[in-house]
Amino acid sequence: MKNNILVTGGAGYIGSHAVKQLLETTKHNIIIVDNLSTGNLKTIKTLKLIRDFKFIKLDLKELDKVKSILKDNNIDTIMHFAAKIIVPESIKNPIDYYINNTVNTINLIKIAVDMKVKKIIFSSSAAVYGEPDKIPEDGIDENFQTNPINPYGMSKLMSENIIKDVATVNDDFKYVIFRYFNVAGADINYVGNNLTPRIGQSFPNATNLIKIASLCATKKIEKMDIFGDDYDTFDGTQIRDYIHVDDLADAHIKAIDYLNNNSSDIFNVGYSNGFSVKEAISSMKKVTKEDFKVNISSRRAGDPVNVVSNNTKIKNKMGWTPKYNDLDLICKSSYEWEKRYASKTI
Ligand code: UD1
Repeated sequence: MKNNILVTGGAGYIGSHAVKQLLETTKHNIIIVDNLSTGNLKTIKTLKLIRDFKFIKLDLKELDKVKSILKDNNIDTIMHFAAKIIVPESIKNPIDYYINNTVNTINLIKIAVDMKVKKIIFSSSAAVYGEPDKIPEDGIDENFQTNPINPYGMSKLMSENIIKDVATVNDDFKYVIFRYFNVAGADINYVGNNLTPRIGQSFPNATNLIKIASLCATKKIEKMDIFGDDYDTFDGTQIRDYIHVDDLADAHIKAIDYLNNNSSDIFNVGYSNGFSVKEAISSMKKVTKEDFKVNISSRRAGDPVNVVSNNTKIKNKMGWTPKYNDLDLICKSSYEWEKRYASKTI
């Protein structure tokens, strides 16, 4: 079945990778709305080389316009990526996060239900789990207690609850909520034998570990910090579950058909593998053969020690099979993207 899909935040990092796969592997009609605050017009141009689609520069605050877009394009499915995602920024500016992430989602959901949209695929986060006292051996599953420790995580949990409540009283409105673990890497695209990402993380103020390490490896910045090496982990640095952005995007594509025959649900998306900050930096140095300076600095506010998924549910129920479960490939693709982006060859 061909769907008419509205992708909010489709010019951004994760949204653009989902759009790439929608364009390459499906026949669905795609309409992107993005305010380009962190998304990028170049990304839109690159995606249009795959197949044409409609792009509308718009902030989700402009409710009347969003409503017209849903109506004029007969939208039946929404992929809602548009959000702010930086934990430390959310601690400094909580209101921004609640407005941008939660209020905008409430408004979007209200309009979606009014306009008889049938499915929403929502980007949530492992940040909803907060700082678990004790991580189970096989990772955090979806029934684990939610207890966000920063406004970013709370803004996502509130949005999840609103979506669930609305779906409870609207039988025709279904959702898949994805709780992302640490998303990294860039478009796996080969030209000959060369890994040549066409899209990637291009937001200049990005703070993610692997992005920062690739900025160091490409010499765009001189050095980086490890935020604390005195944690109770095997090497003193924090543990995260790094997932390649193309595998995450694939889960979104699967969710569209999943909702045709299944009820609404929440899924973790991660590899169930934990790596320390030091391991991730070593991987970047190894695959790029570049050395760079790393300082040990103090702990960063709002950081949980250990966040690793249990991904049994998405594998079993949705048939999701990760293809790029390889930290070295994640680092390599991030670096190759950074090199191309840095040297403006795209
Ligand atoms: C990331 C996501 C967040 C998601 C969470 C799920 C971003 C911006 N944030 O947060 O949306 O909810 O994963 O687990 O993508 N670190 C350093 N030095 C640096 C940068 C990071 O030591 O320069 C450390 C951090 O302290 C942390 C780890 O690296 O231990 C990962 O940090 P980061 O990439 O910023 O992601 P999270 O804060 O885990």
